Amino acid sequence: MSYYKLFEIGLWATAFNTDLKDYCYEVQSKDQGRKKTNILGYQSNPLNLRDPILQPLINHIEFEAYRYARSFLTYDRPLKVEQMWININHTNSYNKSHTHPQSYFSGVYYVSKPEDSGHITFTHPYTDVMDSYWPFVNDQKEFTHSNSSEWSMYSKEGDCLIFPSFYRHHVEPNYSKEDRISISFNIL
Ligand SMILES: [Fe+2]
Repeated sequence: MSYYKLFEIGLWATAFNTDLKDYCYEVQSKDQGRKKTNILGYQSNPLNLRDPILQPLINHIEFEAYRYARSFLTYDRPLKVEQMWININHTNSYNKSHTHPQSYFSGVYYVSKPEDSGHITFTHPYTDVMDSYWPFVNDQKEFTHSNSSEWSMYSKEGDCLIFPSFYRHHVEPNYSKEDRISISFNIL
């Protein structure tokens, strides 16, 4: 007997220490932000990727994105962070379901992640189909990566996630009293 996990691409999770909280609030004080997937929360315009304060994080992301890509691609390809932006979700704010078009990989780095401030949750690409044809999938004794129609990542401050840009995801509401601060990015 053989069992094949077809078309599987995982999510890459690393951790990296930075001290970018003051920087994020400084950007917020100068940039009124933009409306994208953020409900109630703040999202900055694209950051200046040449800002020296961002270089350690960018280097970490590009190094890890390369390792991630090499875990399933069989040729070398340089990967660059093409865009970064800040999300500051205060109490009750959240992010609507979305993907990151025109990008290979995307990800998020947690600058500040208080308890109960909302997890990033990924949705199975065929969730509607599964709900109709495989209703038993929601009736598990134990949920695993293979039998779930959505999956939340219980990340903490300093964690960095990288995933295919076509992975649909949203961010749950921040039910804490403190800000949830993250830096999102796209990689090409
Ligand atoms: Fe996103």
